[in-house]
Amino acid sequence: MATQAVTQSSYDQVPYPSLPIRSTHPDHIASIAAMFGMAPASPDACRVLEIGCADGANLIPMAASLPNSQFIGVDLSAAQVALGQRVIDQLSLKNVTLRQLNVMDFGAEYGVFDYIIVYGVYSWAPHEVQDKILDICSQQLAPNGVAFISYNTYPGWHMRGAVRNMLWYHTRQFEDVQTRITQARALLHFLAEAAPKIGKDADQQAYSIALDSEEKRIAKQSDSYMLHEHLEEYNEPLYFYQFAERIEKHDLQYVAEVEISSMTPDVLPKDVAQTIGRLGSSVVATEQYLDFVRNRMFRQSLLCHKGIALERTWGIDLLHKMHIASPLKPLSEKPSILSPLNERFRGPTGTVVSSSNPLNKAAIIYLSKIWPNAVKFDQLLREARDRSQSVASVEADAQMLGDTLLKSLVVDLIELHLYQPRFVIEISERPLASVIARWQATYEERVTNQRHEAIEVDGLMRAVLNYLDGQHDRAEIVRLLADILTQELEPESKDGKTLEQVLEAELHDIARAALLVA
Ligand SMILES: C[S@@+](CC[C@H](N)C(=O)[O-])C[C@H]1O[C@@H](n2cnc3c(N)ncnc32)[C@H](O)[C@@H]1O
Repeated sequence: MATQAVTQSSYDQVPYPSLPIRSTHPDHIASIAAMFGMAPASPDACRVLEIGCADGANLIPMAASLPNSQFIGVDLSAAQVALGQRVIDQLSLKNVTLRQLNVMDFGAEYGVFDYIIVYGVYSWAPHEVQDKILDICSQQLAPNGVAFISYNTYPGWHMRGAVRNMLWYHTRQFEDVQTRITQARALLHFLAEAAPKIGKDADQQAYSIALDSEEKRIAKQSDSYMLHEHLEEYNEPLYFYQFAERIEKHDLQYVAEVEISSMTPDVLPKDVAQTIGRLGSSVVATEQYLDFVRNRMFRQSLLCHKGIALERTWGIDLLHKMHIASPLKPLSEKPSILSPLNERFRGPTGTVVSSSNPLNKAAIIYLSKIWPNAVKFDQLLREARDRSQSVASVEADAQMLGDTLLKSLVVDLIELHLYQPRFVIEISERPLASVIARWQATYEERVTNQRHEAIEVDGLMRAVLNYLDGQHDRAEIVRLLADILTQELEPESKDGKTLEQVLEAELHDIARAALLVA
């Protein structure tokens, strides 16, 4: 119990700046679970538990966007829970409850859950808490329920762990939290400088490079990160196979990672992928060898009950079940569909792919036009066939497009959604932004969109969002925001833009950021 008090006070003193985490949203979890053959509960009518919910920054926007679902968050830190409760009260949300509670005291009275989220807690808690978390997942997950657990992993954490151990050793002599953080940064700087940079000894060089890179990485991180990741008493990384053994003991099984691309050896050089294919005699073994190759440090794993039959090979039938979206953008301003020329498309992380095939080009261009919206496979096929003036049979085109989409899926260049996204990209006469986005735009510099992402918003976007309550048309918004729109206009005045055009461009950005609802 003494250790729990330490955790409680450290998060009370230096709260964790929590954010919406897209991969934990029931929409995202349900989509991945469905890809692996599960029949998860609809996000529109589900029960969700978040263990270690901090100030509810993850759970509250979910509750606001899914009013018919129920959300419960528990956290040890009274200060963080109180912060979240104030937001819930201001938004008058009735479907989310945050409780100051040690998860060790969580019991059957809370019922069963379709989704259990445990982000940033498992590795950072003592063994009895880790065990209790898996117990809750085992006992209080609905039959088709899915649990999400993130944790630090080896081998990646070996080097980072060495740094953590040194910082922890040095700072344990200090009581005051702020002094510990300052001292930790100072020691890391000293070590990075002190380690010999040049020399014949390869081990020494590797050590110096690792210290340097850790110092640079941590320099960009908040004090809260430094404290809770490196200076807390607990931070236990583990190998994936060890995690798999633990969940097995709780009658749970591994479904998948939330980033599909991390599960496929196919993105690695061919000979590496082939060797992993030979070594990986099971899903767990393949994942483990992938971690060895990638020096993996962190996992976000989905789990379900042991008895559920999972599907691990994908065919075109999967695409028929889902809605398809793609963040790819053509590099050319006027990409050509009909010419046999190669067109190049860029993904959100900079990956560039190309195709000269008219059907594929037409499909990607169509998806880029409607992004972040999603469509069913049949509609995408129709659009692509029309735009590419295809004369091939529907079956042949379906096969070709299906193969392309499945290949793009494993490198994260398309998204599959089990349910239609709940935002609109068409801008209505009196546009309506989500309640949470409007509320956050009043108080914060980041708003949560309907894809459960934190979006940075500038002064103009914040001001416009405030008036997107479904009551104001464009003329009224221009009148109400004339001053701020005029400021925006000045650098552009040579282009002869009007205030109406500035507003229209802003509304377009807001719609594309998935902030508008029907
Ligand atoms: C690193 S923070 C992560 C917060 C949040 N999930 C996020 O990712 O933003 C860990 C959280 O777990 C909470 N926590 C730690 N041990 C706990 C326990 N035994 N019971 C309930 N909450 C606990 C802490 O108070 C803290 O808010």
